[in-house]
Amino acid sequence: MNILITGGAGFIGSHVIRRLIKNYPDYNIYNLDALTYAGNLENLRDIEDASNYTFLKGDIVDESYINEIFKKYNFNGVIHLAAESHVDRSISDPLAFVKTNIFGTVNLLNAARNLWKDDFSNKRFYHVSTDEVYGSLGSEGLFLETTAYDPNSPYSASKASSDHFVRAYGETYGLPYVITNCSNNYGPNHFPEKLIPLFINNIIEGKPLPVYGDGKYTRDWLFVEDHARAIDLVFHKGRNHETYNIGGFNEWQNIDLVQLLCRQMDKKLDKPAGTSEKLITYVKDRPGHDLRYAIDASKIHKELGWKPSVTFEQGLERTIDWYLENEDWLNSVTSGLYQEYYKKMYN
Ligand code: NAD
Ligand code: DAU
Repeated sequence: MNILITGGAGFIGSHVIRRLIKNYPDYNIYNLDALTYAGNLENLRDIEDASNYTFLKGDIVDESYINEIFKKYNFNGVIHLAAESHVDRSISDPLAFVKTNIFGTVNLLNAARNLWKDDFSNKRFYHVSTDEVYGSLGSEGLFLETTAYDPNSPYSASKASSDHFVRAYGETYGLPYVITNCSNNYGPNHFPEKLIPLFINNIIEGKPLPVYGDGKYTRDWLFVEDHARAIDLVFHKGRNHETYNIGGFNEWQNIDLVQLLCRQMDKKLDKPAGTSEKLITYVKDRPGHDLRYAIDASKIHKELGWKPSVTFEQGLERTIDWYLENEDWLNSVTSGLYQEYYKKMYN
């Protein structure tokens, strides 16, 4: 098997690569990543010398490069994670999301179709997507695989569009595909622009914790290694032309999550109880902020036996420990351009 993984130097992609390299020594794993601000080869230091691993630096938007590598390496499977992934950045620069998330995905679909069109057997295009395509829930209900798409941010609109293209290639050309839509991930190697790692970093630095709006927004959190295990399972055992929702059965209002994080950080940093909570600052809301996401993950559970294995308390503690033990990683990703982003976003 020659497997192309896109976005493997990012948060979730690096956990997927590590898992596949270890579990499938007979696969050749190719990691294609443009190394944007979110991509970091440090995330893969421990496996970079593995004999079944190759890193390819390139942009999924670059048509001739993508066609060239599909021919050269004769991929028979693709796990597509590369994306612009941060909602706040999509609000200030929507076109970047159109380019990578829509155009880049269609480029990959074309290359796969061209290479595989005479024989689709034993081929698979796996598109990793998000629960945000379903829009926002009220206080009741869960997202099912059949929930109508209703994206609200430029990020979720671009992911929804890419999902539609994947399905269209399946229907129109017979391309074998599978799509998963997952809830909010957290864990080691998460870029500190997202809620949990941003707040861990700010607590370490004694900076304000900017809670958007009234903090009552709800997300369903899943430990990243559980997502990587689900991706492995769906890639190998998921049914063709199917969608699977993946979630943590773990809903938290932002403010409750932040308070839990503050309590755990106080203990880890040996600070008096209540120290970190004093940093909480309510700030202007995110425009178009989705109230609530929650996944019904019973299809993947019933068909493939998957369920989360890490509780939120365990996962959060492992995450905090990782950030405290990897200060160099945190310092390197929060220097330079990050400072400019932070000022623009929060000052
Ligand atoms: P991330 O931002 O941490 O990583 C994205 C990676 O893609 C980076 O390594 C970056 O360098 C690379 N990349 C970006 N543009 C590229 C391009 N044009 N060409 C090649 N590589 C490019 O993202 P993540 O949080 O790991 O998310 C990975 C995927 O999972 C995304 O498709 C995202 O939509 C989806 N997803 C994320 C979450 C979450 O909570 N983080 C939840 C559900 C789904
Ligand atoms: O649901 C899956 C999605 O989860 C993924 O598709 C996205 O790639 C990923 O970024 C994530 O999107 P969110 O917008 O939910 O994640 P974020 O960490 O940016 O925000 C989580 C919640 O916290 C959200 O309600 C906004 C709020 N928030 C976020 C930041 C960065 C704050 O209150 N303050 C902040 O500074």
